[in-house]
Amino acid sequence: MAHETIFTMDTSSIKYGPGATREVGEELRRLGARRTLVVTDPTVARLAPVATTLDAIRAAGLEAELFDRVRIEPTDASFAEAIAVATAGRFDAYVAVGGGSSIDTAKAANLYATYPADLLTYVNAPIGRGEPVPGPLKPLIAIPTTAGTGSETTGVAIFDFLELGAKTGIAHRALRPVMGIVDPENTRTMPPTVAACSGLDVLSHAIESLTALPYRERPAPDGPGMRPAYQGSNPISDLWSAQAIRMVAANIVRACGPDADDETRGQMLLASAFAGIGFGNAGVHLPHGMSYPVAGLVRDFRPAGYDADHPIVPHGMSVILNAPAVFRWTAVANPARHLYAAGLLGVDVVGVGHDEAGTILADAIIGIMRQLDMPNGLGAVGYGPGDVDALVAGTLPQHRVTKLSPRPAGPEDLRALFLGAMTYW
Ligand SMILES: NC(=O)c1ccc[n+]([C@@H]2O[C@H](COP(=O)([O-])OP(=O)(O)OC[C@H]3O[C@@H](n4cnc5c(N)ncnc54)[C@H](O)[C@@H]3O)[C@@H](O)[C@H]2O)c1
Repeated sequence: MAHETIFTMDTSSIKYGPGATREVGEELRRLGARRTLVVTDPTVARLAPVATTLDAIRAAGLEAELFDRVRIEPTDASFAEAIAVATAGRFDAYVAVGGGSSIDTAKAANLYATYPADLLTYVNAPIGRGEPVPGPLKPLIAIPTTAGTGSETTGVAIFDFLELGAKTGIAHRALRPVMGIVDPENTRTMPPTVAACSGLDVLSHAIESLTALPYRERPAPDGPGMRPAYQGSNPISDLWSAQAIRMVAANIVRACGPDADDETRGQMLLASAFAGIGFGNAGVHLPHGMSYPVAGLVRDFRPAGYDADHPIVPHGMSVILNAPAVFRWTAVANPARHLYAAGLLGVDVVGVGHDEAGTILADAIIGIMRQLDMPNGLGAVGYGPGDVDALVAGTLPQHRVTKLSPRPAGPEDLRALFLGAMTYW
């Protein structure tokens, strides 16, 4: 097998600062837009970021229509509803205002309204057909209101594929927003649980991309067009991921508590974008791959702060609940990287042996989870040993991410990892 020798580094343009949202109209005008679809969820629709966005677009003399029916943790069915609206409206630009659910829905609406096709056409193989996007999309500006998924920087749109009982996604550079407007004023109203879950998603993005299989150990693609968006760890992604870990360590606890201020929120939003630049090119691995069935098979868990009309294990929670078990097990593949991540989290790793790398990193993550009142493992969100077969079955097809694990994981390994993630303290 020939190995990869090339990596690429792509990201959205980023505009950062308090009040930056008010410049979205000018940005759209610069892009030549006339009719824009603004995509958001029903809760964020009632908040200042959407009002500011609509005002700014109209003040620039442009038309804006609002789609406010994004589903929290979107599904194939909810994507279809947004795609239908986008297709009928013949928009020449999109603005997503919200968390990852809104940004990902806008990406899918833009894709299928521009290149109409059966949903599975562009969905990752082997779940979908994984065909490359045929060409450029309409410009999309993403304005995150969580900190966050980093979706404002990535070419990825994730949805819950209902008949599979697990999440999957569409990943292609063409989906990447042209710009992310990162404005600390927009996360002021985030409920503490949303701040904690989305902040832990940032942390896992950064650690997973730093510890992912190096790009040179992936098989070479059949051609440049078949090179995946998630390419494996590489020297440029490493810088962004490492800095994101430092920033999360310094800010996450304060950002989720009563003392949060715009400075702390701004640092978490920047960390989210930094991690997005890192994982958007390097990729994530097992904590994310295993999170897709954890989210998809939810029974009746309903955390505070999520205005969802359905049970939900929020994305960041479903990821972080797997993370300690995974890093304990993957550390043997690249212990220095796992120790480096623990050091970035503030753990004193001087003199620590490589055989302790996994435990040290896992314990550091568990410490943060406890400070943020996360559930104590998968058992605390409704799963037990009897669910492990289904959780493994939902993880196995997630090749896009599981193949980036630094240590190859077969069904028996995944069983052990899910069992190891049931209870942590
Ligand atoms: N595309 C990517 O690269 C990527 C990366 C990670 C996660 N994701 C996906 O993103 C989704 C999760 O996104 P998320 O964690 O950002 O949250 P979200 O968009 O699902 O929103 C979570 C909750 O917070 C509320 N909310 C959001 N911003 C708020 C604010 N400022 N004030 C008050 N309430 C607010 C929403 O209404 C909702 O109830 C998942 O579907 C996940 O799979 C995508």
